[in-house]
Amino acid sequence: MLASGKTPAGTHRPIMVEEILAALKPRPGDFVVDCTLGYGGHARELLARIQPGGHLLGLDADPHELPKTERRLREAGYPPETFTAHSGNFAGLTGYLAAFRIGAASDSAVPALADCLLADLGVSSMQIDDPARGFSVKLDGPLDMRMNPTRGISAQGLLRRTTPAALEEILADHADEPRSRDLARALAGGDFPTTKALALAIRSASPRLSGPESELTVRRVFQALRIAVNDEFSALEMFLRQLPLCLNPGARAAILSFHSGEDRRVKKSFEAGLRGGLYDEISPEVLRCGPQERHENPRASSAKLRWVRRAGA
Ligand SMILES: C[S@@+](CC[C@H](N)C(=O)[O-])C[C@H]1O[C@@H](n2cnc3c(N)ncnc32)[C@H](O)[C@@H]1O
Repeated sequence: MLASGKTPAGTHRPIMVEEILAALKPRPGDFVVDCTLGYGGHARELLARIQPGGHLLGLDADPHELPKTERRLREAGYPPETFTAHSGNFAGLTGYLAAFRIGAASDSAVPALADCLLADLGVSSMQIDDPARGFSVKLDGPLDMRMNPTRGISAQGLLRRTTPAALEEILADHADEPRSRDLARALAGGDFPTTKALALAIRSASPRLSGPESELTVRRVFQALRIAVNDEFSALEMFLRQLPLCLNPGARAAILSFHSGEDRRVKKSFEAGLRGGLYDEISPEVLRCGPQERHENPRASSAKLRWVRRAGA
């Protein structure tokens, strides 16, 4: 199944693992922050490399998947002394680190700073594969799309309340949708209780598109809505501003992004940090996965990896 390019349902394949390990250079004793724990695939690789003495703090905004991942990593042999799972949005990273104390240092008033930090943006395969989460263009389910279903409004709620002008901006800005105006007019204010209902409405709003073009349009609209529902660009910008404050001198951070809006923000922030002396090294160019990984895991083909090193070592 893995070799044929499919990811077993309910799991997630970590992307560009070798490249991430080469960028982060985890060592025994390191304190690692995985800002997007997901299924725990990257975390597991990092945990194996920071023992003995290391600790990994895994954050995730998704309170539904997090306990399952925590259980899996405990069963894989990582007790609370080596691994902490925390439910939260990386937009508030400095707050979590200020409150976090590791083992013997638990009395210390000094916030824990990371030696390695990873953010693997977007959604996991488990989230997409679960129809009840409403992310999937293929599976029918309630039109939700919230990574944390206890916060904010669902995609159904957003579409119901939005205006054509606001939706046009979301579609153009979050997914480079070329037909954003027509689609926004057709969809804004509508009530689409399910993913299928929305996909049907998108297809009927673009009757002249060929089958594949129409499916691409459906994907772009879903992507744009997901980004808007979860306020993903604001969270990323807040995280990027805090990042230098969360790293020890000489620490390394890597970010895996999946579309141009994310990568543009990461690149701009890393370059500004290098110019401003916050970072003393950044990846000279964006890194992409190799042909074998692209073949084995189609989701990896859009991944873009960038890394930085905190100045002051
Ligand atoms: C691509 S998956 C990460 C997969 C993970 N690296 C692995 O190996 O299993 C992205 C994860 O990030 C989480 N996420 C997305 N935005 C987030 C945010 N702003 N704060 C915290 N977690 C977030 C999602 O809930 C999802 O679980």
